[in-house]
Amino acid sequence: MPRRTETHLSQFAREWATRGVRAWHEGWWEIGRVTGDILAPTIGAPPGTISMHQNATVAQAIVASCFSFDGPRRRIVVQDLDFPSNHYLFHGFERYDAEVVTVPSDDAVRGRMDRVVDAIDERTALVNLSLVLFRSAHLQDVAPAIEKAHRVGARVVLDLYQAAGAVPVDVTALGADFAVGGSVKWLCGGPGAGYLYVRPDLMTTLQPAAVGWAGHAEPFQFTPGPVTYAEGLERFQSGTPNVPALYSARAGYEIVAEVGVPAIREKSLRLTRRLMDAAEQRGWRLAMPTDDQERGASVIIDVPDGAAVTQALIAREVIVDYRPGAGIRIAPHFYNTEAEIDHAVDVMHDIVGKG
Ligand SMILES: Cc1ncc(COP(=O)(O)O)c(C=O)c1O
Repeated sequence: MPRRTETHLSQFAREWATRGVRAWHEGWWEIGRVTGDILAPTIGAPPGTISMHQNATVAQAIVASCFSFDGPRRRIVVQDLDFPSNHYLFHGFERYDAEVVTVPSDDAVRGRMDRVVDAIDERTALVNLSLVLFRSAHLQDVAPAIEKAHRVGARVVLDLYQAAGAVPVDVTALGADFAVGGSVKWLCGGPGAGYLYVRPDLMTTLQPAAVGWAGHAEPFQFTPGPVTYAEGLERFQSGTPNVPALYSARAGYEIVAEVGVPAIREKSLRLTRRLMDAAEQRGWRLAMPTDDQERGASVIIDVPDGAAVTQALIAREVIVDYRPGAGIRIAPHFYNTEAEIDHAVDVMHDIVGKG
């Protein structure tokens, strides 16, 4: 947790205690827009384009609810290696006649963007593209799929969860229609702060079915009946903002922006390369692309009994995680040191050696 987070959370508690309900009109109601604007430069988004939600899945549901799937354009294209939430959610839309097209990979490491491009056609409504795959940290070249989607009139949502704050992202340059993610990973923002970027020119025409009173042009008129959408990002806002989570997210966004993604990426490539070299020297299999152009910021090491090795590492304060079918995910960030990498390798060598 960033040290500053405690300050921001104390501020929230103080405002609640001293201002009570008045705090809504002294900053709380607008906190989604304000927080989104702090995050925006990190993903190349202009101000006023990011709304904040409970998590990435909710943000993705709002995206899917912008489409109707009962005409000839009813397909949603996903990859088998996308995060399962994407699969579960889009299959849920089959009840509204959506058709989910799942593009297969050849292994658990690399997405096949060429096959994604081939799967997109005039029947496609929406394409989900994970910039970095959660299982293997494969950094995918999504540009050809975005180009194809736009050529045939489909929309694209980028899942930036594993990328934002660790690898350079520019949603504007990519021309993405939507982007979603959350703050538990490289953004150091903690839980409860999912984000949704919508391309500015689409913002005033899209009509999310998943809408609530905060999405109304005049929410405090409490008008019954169908919504009159707000002009800007608020139309995607649904209901009351998750104020404490957004106070908690702010520090991470600020720090990532202050350090800057280029510097974070440079250090990340250095620390992870050190880790990968050490793994290869010890004969541990890397379950990830090894070329810098094709990898995100995690190192995935596949050794026998990976789940047990992970528990043993955590017991010795080397904090990593394990993904079935992939391996041990090690994720150094800008605050880690080369000495910590070497220490993690030594501890793992000790554990695996005993295995
Ligand atoms: C790539 C990716 N997409 C989506 C999600 C789901 O995020 P949330 O729990 O915020 O819905 C995750 C969570 O780890 C993820 O890694």
